[in-house]
Amino acid sequence: MKRIAVYPGSFDPVTNGHLDLIHRALEFVDELIIAILVNPEKQALFTVKERMEMIRNVIPLNDDIKIDQFDGLLVDYVRKKKAQMIIRGLRAVSDFDYEFQMALMNRRLEPGIETIFLLPAEQYSYVSSRLVKEICSLGGTVRGLVPDEVEKRMQKKLQTGKRRES
Ligand code: PNS
Repeated sequence: MKRIAVYPGSFDPVTNGHLDLIHRALEFVDELIIAILVNPEKQALFTVKERMEMIRNVIPLNDDIKIDQFDGLLVDYVRKKKAQMIIRGLRAVSDFDYEFQMALMNRRLEPGIETIFLLPAEQYSYVSSRLVKEICSLGGTVRGLVPDEVEKRMQKKLQTGKRRES
């Protein structure tokens, strides 16, 4: 049976931590679907289309990796894709509470789907999309924490925002 996994998230924007996890997941799955949540209630820096574009530009897409968007319940999407696994990253103890609740709730909703937690490389264990956006908006460098293209696009967006404010 083909092992298919869904790696869901906001990816606003993709970081090198996400990319590290993608490579780790590919070691043991046959197909990985990177699935961006469409959440109109959450204010994002990038549109879903932009987020998909950035991921497409930094990972070589082939038959093993797909990129998609979803709304509604994650387990419904995973079932629709005939996947058996959800991949999530655990960076620190602080992630655990939220991830634990989500994994158990998803298991309750769909007992046939397992959540697999992966640890990123140590140098990315403190990297989050939220922090890189904050640093970038305050003029700091996030080189090495996100792909170069992502840093450039963040700078462009956040500088435009600043100009609008002033
Ligand atoms: O990158 P994020 O924002 O931490 O990802 C969170 C995500 C997308 C995995 C989570 O919000 C999600 O699965 N949302 C879909 C709605 C859903 O299924 N909610 C119930 C989860 S128990």
